[in-house]
Amino acid sequence: MPAPAPAAPRPMVSTAMRSPWAQEYARTPRTYIWGTAPSRLAKEVGALLPPGARVLDLGCGEGRDSVFFASQGCDVTAVDASRAGLRKAERLAREKGVTVRWIPGDMSRVMVDGPFDLIYSCGSIHYVSRRERARLFGRLKALTRPGGHQARIVFTDRLVYVEKGEVVDHFAPRELAAAYADWTIVRQANRLISCAQDGRPHRHSVEEFVAMAVEPSQATRD
Ligand SMILES: C[S@@+](CC[C@H](N)C(=O)[O-])C[C@H]1O[C@@H](n2cnc3c(N)ncnc32)[C@H](O)[C@@H]1O
Repeated sequence: MPAPAPAAPRPMVSTAMRSPWAQEYARTPRTYIWGTAPSRLAKEVGALLPPGARVLDLGCGEGRDSVFFASQGCDVTAVDASRAGLRKAERLAREKGVTVRWIPGDMSRVMVDGPFDLIYSCGSIHYVSRRERARLFGRLKALTRPGGHQARIVFTDRLVYVEKGEVVDHFAPRELAAAYADWTIVRQANRLISCAQDGRPHRHSVEEFVAMAVEPSQATRD
């Protein structure tokens, strides 16, 4: 019997092609499609931060969570691939009277100086390919202060709904737990969220994940 043909390689897809949100932000310059109030996760992890904490928000979009962290007294750096999103984010920060360091670009390649007390991403890291994000997690760990946190919400493969032609590498069960096996996992929860950004009410399955970098004194304990 002939050997099965090898699976065709997946074509390389650029960040701009993976995420549909840059186009959406450009189409809606006056409105905030994700709202201006902070997300539930931002409020939860905001409570874990020391005064003046350094926060890195990856895929900050229109800035609702970055602006929230800054309004709590944090020193915030925020990255997004969409300049149209960052223009809205800057406006929101001005309106709220806070300052955020906004960086346009791909989170997988962006150069920032650590360490950070919190590296945060809400609904964005699943646009980075699985191969790329394994490297990214290594870099992000090195940028986190011992005792600092990482928190994220990611799309999982339990209930897949593709909107606006997005290209998502959905997270598999335990993928984040395995990537952070050497950290303390503070909270991990799977749930469904409602969405209607494409005009049709639907749901996405997500994982909420909060982990803490182990302090060196704990790392050496047996
Ligand atoms: C669903 S939106 C969430 C925005 C924001 N975190 C919030 O919760 O309001 C996902 C964001 O990730 C950004 N994004 C996607 N891939 C990215 C990448 N590789 N680098 C930087 N930003 C990216 C998109 O531009 C978009 O703003």
